[in-house]
Amino acid sequence: MSQAGIVNVMKETRVFPPPPEFSAKARIKSMEQYREMWQRAKDDPEGFWGEYAKELHWFKPYEKVLEWNEPFATWFKNGQTNVSYNCLDVHLNTWRRNKVAYIWEGEPGDVRVLTYEMLHREVCKFASVLKSLGIQKGDRVSIYMPMVPELPIAMLACARIGAIHSVVFGGFAAEALAERNNDAQAKLLITADGGWRRGKIVPLKENADRAMEKSPTIQKCIVLKRTGQEINMVDGRDLWWHELMKDASANCPAEPMDSEAPLFLLYTSGSTGKPKGVKHTTAGYNLYAKKTMEWVFDIRDEDVYWCTADIGWITGHTYIVYGPLSAGATIVMYEGAPDWPGYDRWWDIIERYKVNILYTAPTAIRTFIKWGDEHVEKHDLSSLRLLGSVGEGINPEAWMWYYEKIGGGRCPIVDTWWQTETGGIMISPLPGCTPLKPGSATFPLPGVVPEVVGEDGKPVPVGVGGWLVITQPWPGMLRGIWGDDERYKRQYWSDVPHKYLAGDNARIDEDGYIWIMGRIDDVLNVSGHRLSTIEVESALVSHPAVAEAAAVGRPHEIKGEAICAFVTLAEGYEPSDALRQELKNHVRQQIGALAVPDDIRFTTALPKTRSGKIMRRLLRDIAAGRETVGDTSTLEDYSVLARLRAGEE
Ligand code: PRX
Repeated sequence: MSQAGIVNVMKETRVFPPPPEFSAKARIKSMEQYREMWQRAKDDPEGFWGEYAKELHWFKPYEKVLEWNEPFATWFKNGQTNVSYNCLDVHLNTWRRNKVAYIWEGEPGDVRVLTYEMLHREVCKFASVLKSLGIQKGDRVSIYMPMVPELPIAMLACARIGAIHSVVFGGFAAEALAERNNDAQAKLLITADGGWRRGKIVPLKENADRAMEKSPTIQKCIVLKRTGQEINMVDGRDLWWHELMKDASANCPAEPMDSEAPLFLLYTSGSTGKPKGVKHTTAGYNLYAKKTMEWVFDIRDEDVYWCTADIGWITGHTYIVYGPLSAGATIVMYEGAPDWPGYDRWWDIIERYKVNILYTAPTAIRTFIKWGDEHVEKHDLSSLRLLGSVGEGINPEAWMWYYEKIGGGRCPIVDTWWQTETGGIMISPLPGCTPLKPGSATFPLPGVVPEVVGEDGKPVPVGVGGWLVITQPWPGMLRGIWGDDERYKRQYWSDVPHKYLAGDNARIDEDGYIWIMGRIDDVLNVSGHRLSTIEVESALVSHPAVAEAAAVGRPHEIKGEAICAFVTLAEGYEPSDALRQELKNHVRQQIGALAVPDDIRFTTALPKTRSGKIMRRLLRDIAAGRETVGDTSTLEDYSVLARLRAGEE
C-alpha cells in the first residue's frame, strides 16, 4: 500500500454495521456466534474441522483430522476423496443436477451456459482424453488458457484422475511459461490458439510454441480452438481439443485420491528471482475452499455469483472453480477486458445476469472511479447484495465509492486478506455480523489464529505495526514448495520460530480489527499482481545493454504500485528513449506485460552499502519523489544519491 494509503487508513473511524435483513438470513448472524465458532476452532481444531469434513465425499474415511509435524501438515490422514467428485458428482443426485454451474460470456459477446450435469459430462470426457494420452496420477500438466469454460474443465479433469495441474496465467510470456513447465517437469501442455482481450487476440499458441522449444519435458500439447486464426500445429505433438473430445468416453469415474495427494501447483513470486511452485493438496484445500466460500460470501442456491479474477491466479482457483463448485453455486465467468466494447461492460453483465455477489480487486475499482460514474449509472445494479475485495488493501476512498456507487449503500463489503500460500481467505469480515471499517480486513476466520509480532517473535502492543504471522495450521495451507522443502522452511518458518510468516505488515487496533499494511519483503503488488523486484531485475539484466538494474515499487493511483527501474548501462551503450522502449519490450517478452516498468531511469551508479548491497529504501524514496528520511550513513558513495536526485541521464 502507498504511504498515502497507510496514512488514510490510520485515520479511518467510520463503522458500518451489517444490514439487519442480511444478518437475519446469514449463516453466521452475530458476533457472538462468530466468536464462539472461532474459539472452538482455536481450542479444538480437530473437532471443529472433523465435523465439517462430513460435507465431503469420502471413498475411504480418514484416520486422524490433523497430524502436525511442523512445518508439514497432514490433514485427514489416510482418507481418500476426490476434488472433482466433490465439485460435480455430489450434486448429480440432488436437484442441483440441472442447476447452472457456469454462465460464461466471451469478450465478443458469445454466451455458454453449463449445468452441473453438462459440466460433469465435459470433465469426464476430457479426463478420458487425458488418460488416453497416458497421463497418470501424479503427472504434472501445465495449463495456459484464456478465461473459457475449457479452463475449469481441464483443471477438474486433472483432479478427477489425480494429475497435478499448474495453471499459468495467460498474460505471462513464453519465457515465464517455459520456466514453470520446467520447474514442474510437466508432461503435457493444454492451451488455446488464442484468447480475446480488448478486441485483439492474445497469441497463446504462438507463445506456447516458443515456450515448448525450451520445455524438454512437454511431450504433447492439446490446443483448444477459440480465436480461429491460423496457427502452427506440430505433427505428433500438437492435438486439437475438439478432435480428441469427439469420441471420448463420458464414463470416467473419479479416482480415489489420498487426502494429501497434490491437487495443483501455482507459481508465485517470492523474494528471489525464481518463482516458487506453491503446492496445494486434496482434502484440506477442498474443505477450506468450500467453507470459506460459504462463510465469507454466504452463498445461497438462488445467488448468481461473479468473481472477476483470472483463473490463472489463486483467487480464480479457489473462488471461481473449487470453492463455488463445491458449494453448488451458479458462477458467472467472463473472458475479456472491462472496457470492451465500452467502459460499462461489467455493469452490463451484472444487470443482464442479475448478479448478486461481486468479488473483485481494488485496482479495478480505482480504474472505474477514473473512468467516471456515468458508465455505472447507466445500469440497474439493484440485484447486488454483497461485494468483495481482494489482492491488496482497499483504500477508504475506493471502499466508499464501491459501497455507495456499486453497492447502493446496502451491500456489505468483505475485504478479504489471503495469499496463494493460504489456499483460501484468512482474514475477512463475515457479511452477516461484522461491523465494517473501510480499509480493514477485520477479523480472522474460524480456524485462523493470527498474531502481529515484532522481530523478536513476540506480539506487539495494540496499534503498533509488526509482522503478520499465523500460529496454527489450517486445512487450506500450502504443503510446501514444489521440489524445495528447504525453501519452504526458510521462507515461511524460520524468521519467527513455530509460526507461519505471511510476509505482510499489519497492526491490530483497540477493537481487535486487523489492518494490513503492505509487504515486508521485496515483493511488489502491481494491480493486485504479485511480482518480485528481482524477477524484474533479472529480466532487465538479461538484455545486453544493461550492466546492473534495481527495481522498486512506487505509489500509483490506479495500480497501487508501479515499477520503477534504475538501470546502469554496459560499455558502449548510451541512454535514449529508444533504448528505454527496447528494455520495456524486453521485460514484456521475458515475463509479460504485467512486469513492464512504468519508469526506467538511467544512472551511472546505484546507491550501495559498503558491503555492496543496493539500498532499495533510498531508491524507493527517489522513485516516489520523497525526501530520504532514513539513515544513509552506510552509503558507500554519497554523490550517487545526489546524482540520482538530480535525475541524471
Ligand atoms: O500483500 C498481501 C496482498 O497480496 C499478497 C498475496 O498475493 P497473492 O499470493 O498473489 O494472492 C492475492 C490474492 C489472494 C498478500 O501477501 N493482499 C491480498 N489481499 C489483501 C492484501 N493486502 C491487503 N488487503 C487484502 N485484502
